[in-house]
Amino acid sequence: MGRKGENVAFKKNLLCIGAGYVGGPTMAVIALKCPDYRVTVVDVNEERIDQWNSDRLPIFEPGLDDVVRAVRGKNLFFSTDVPAAIRAADIIFVSVNTPTKTFGEGAGMASDLQHWEKTAQQIIEHSDGSKIIVEKSTVPVRTAEAMERILRMNGKGLRFEIISNPEFLAEGTAVRNLLEPDRVLVGSLETESGRKAAREIADIYAHWVPADKIITTNLWSSELSKLVANAFLAQRISSINSISALCEKTDADIGDISFAVGSDSRIGPRFLAAGIGFGGSCFRKDILNLVYIARSYGLPDVADYWEMVVRINDFQQERFVQRIVHEMFQTLVGKKIALFGFAFKANTGDTRESPGIYVARKLIEERAVVSITDPWALDNARRDLEGIGGRVEFQTDPYRAAEGAQAIALITGWDAFRQLDYEKIFRVMVKPAFLFDGRNLLDHPRLFQIGFNVYPLGKPSRTHFA
Ligand SMILES: NC(=O)c1ccc[n+]([C@@H]2O[C@H](COP(=O)([O-])OP(=O)(O)OC[C@H]3O[C@@H](n4cnc5c(N)ncnc54)[C@H](O)[C@@H]3O)[C@@H](O)[C@H]2O)c1
Repeated sequence: MGRKGENVAFKKNLLCIGAGYVGGPTMAVIALKCPDYRVTVVDVNEERIDQWNSDRLPIFEPGLDDVVRAVRGKNLFFSTDVPAAIRAADIIFVSVNTPTKTFGEGAGMASDLQHWEKTAQQIIEHSDGSKIIVEKSTVPVRTAEAMERILRMNGKGLRFEIISNPEFLAEGTAVRNLLEPDRVLVGSLETESGRKAAREIADIYAHWVPADKIITTNLWSSELSKLVANAFLAQRISSINSISALCEKTDADIGDISFAVGSDSRIGPRFLAAGIGFGGSCFRKDILNLVYIARSYGLPDVADYWEMVVRINDFQQERFVQRIVHEMFQTLVGKKIALFGFAFKANTGDTRESPGIYVARKLIEERAVVSITDPWALDNARRDLEGIGGRVEFQTDPYRAAEGAQAIALITGWDAFRQLDYEKIFRVMVKPAFLFDGRNLLDHPRLFQIGFNVYPLGKPSRTHFA
């Protein structure tokens, strides 16, 4: 039983190791919906924990401030004291980062599980009772087996039951996704103790998620479902993006195609908007991991199939830059180009794997002057481009970013970019002024009317050149 003020007891102590984009919001919502549980989130990153305890949270996520404010200090606590938190916990969610391996066997493809393994060792070291360990991080299929082996060798006679409970939230809509999930997946071993542990995890979500949305499966299906869900989402993006290239050759309009194709109820309309390509910390790494797994199980055709999803994503980013160079008379030397947006998508400050990183690097290689503006991602952009050389500016004000620029490249679909006064922007730009809309976000006929040469994705361009 956990502590609750002086006298009142909490039903259970939940701990989450890893206070990142997943750990923070997920546990804040669990705390909100489960006042009978005490929830602690720990991290080795002291600065991050300090931010979680401050008025400026370490991540921007619509609605998150309100949730955290409602429960922090009541049944939600952020701390760096990992040993004490492990000792006190009945259930431990592990939400540490599992990036793509950058060294040794499987470099560039496989998941780097060093943080996960380190966490397992910490759990062994500091536990003095049996616990349920929940895989929240996205991991390769059968990771739980390896973790179970590590945890079993604890030398203290403790039992750790491993549950897979992958997280499906999307950054930018995390709070809504957590409050109203399409489904919650809980995977366990098909043993009596495994099923009992799965019920305990399902009970947490049952505080607010309808029973028919809580899916229980075996461990391996649960682990693999997460990779497959991300692969399918990314595959839709790559599918429509590949067709956007064909549209540009044939004068077909990708908007018409998305609508016509997405109207088929078997296909559906979502994730069919053409753009500069997907970013974010998950899609690329999870697909590459799937590819690696398929290859290591002797399934090269399956691996090749999924690898093309990543290849098309690279192709889409490459051709976006090539088009800028081509349309701007094959040289960008000394020309200022304003990047509107740097986050990998709207409503987040996260820039991990953002197409903006690739575009900025390439433009700098072409010796353009790059001026970046983004409502939430400028700190991350600065970090991403540290030491890159060349001429890069960071502007909070989009009008300043556009001043003296010859082109705007729209990278992130922030709604705020739709609201700008493009007549005013046009006036301060060098002519001829170009606009490359990497998200098909803006009103292209209107921009053309103002005087811009407009290059959408997968739609005919609108130019004033003869
Ligand atoms: N970001 C997303 O949208 C998303 C969505 C679903 C699933 N996931 C998965 O969730 C996992 C976490 O992703 P994230 O975006 O929250 O990562 P993140 O990098 O934002 O957060 C991970 C945190 O874990 C901490 N950490 C690492 N090792 C630790 C240790 N031994 N002890 C304590 N803290 C430790 C890090 O300091 C970091 O703050 C990944 O496996 C990811 O694939 C992410």
